[in-house]
Amino acid sequence: MTSRTAGEPLVRLSGVEKWFGQLHVLQDIDLTIDRGEVVVVIGPSGSGKSTLCRTINRLEPIDSGEIAIDGQRLPEEGKDLARLRADVGMVFQSFNLFAHKTVLENVTLGPVKVRRQPKADAERRARELLDRVGVGSQADKYPAQLSGGQQQRVAIARALAMDPKVMLFDEPTSALDPEMINEVLDVMTSLARDGMTMVVVTHEMGFARRAANRVVFMDGGRIVESADPETFFTNPQSDRAKDFLSKILNH
Ligand SMILES: Nc1ncnc2c1ncn2[C@@H]1O[C@H](COP(=O)(O)OP(=O)(O)O)[C@@H](O)[C@H]1O
Ligand SMILES: [Mg+2]
Repeated sequence: MTSRTAGEPLVRLSGVEKWFGQLHVLQDIDLTIDRGEVVVVIGPSGSGKSTLCRTINRLEPIDSGEIAIDGQRLPEEGKDLARLRADVGMVFQSFNLFAHKTVLENVTLGPVKVRRQPKADAERRARELLDRVGVGSQADKYPAQLSGGQQQRVAIARALAMDPKVMLFDEPTSALDPEMINEVLDVMTSLARDGMTMVVVTHEMGFARRAANRVVFMDGGRIVESADPETFFTNPQSDRAKDFLSKILNH
């Protein structure tokens, strides 16, 4: 791993609690992610992984605790929230591209509307990013004309176009046909190598071993374990992690 500045926190969650009605979906979450760190979040379905991601850019409000990005506490609402949210890029399982806009327009929309970049600059940068994720030749097509793997790579380029400080990925390859999974993971691995700070929810354990600095295992709304990949995969501490790993590694 290159260009990681150890011990410089970029995202910090302290004592985060969240309820959905009676369901205590996030319980006493303390998690600090350093600049340049790649954290893979794994855990059973329903353990709160997506909710955790969504709280980091405040798509979901929290009930107590604190979340800070680059030293700034996430504001409740308003212009400051919009600005801070733009610092957090998010890539979802469903690619969420605008169907009626071209690939290029999908990537330039945020920079032009939110970052107020001149259109020509935004387009130049968008083409660079589309080249970087390997879909430069698709710039003038519409999303439906692309494969799932290509669409997800456009979604990554679109998030990068906002120059985020941190990228969140929530099961980015789960909706893809198997032959397209690696082309997306390769782009993510290269981002990680380039020093991007990343939080990645995934079941792709090969990616976790290859690219993660740390694996966080969640169950029942709690962080149950947090360790480097080698330690976590070879020597999980909790029965819950052992049980989870035996299910996903032996299928
Ligand atoms: N908007 C919501 N309203 C009520 N319950 C929700 C909502 N979103 C998620 N949940 C519940 O919260 C729990 C955690 O969900 P989620 O964060 O999506 O888990 P994961 O991503 O680990 O599968 C699940 O029991 C889910 O059904
Ligand atoms: Mg989820």
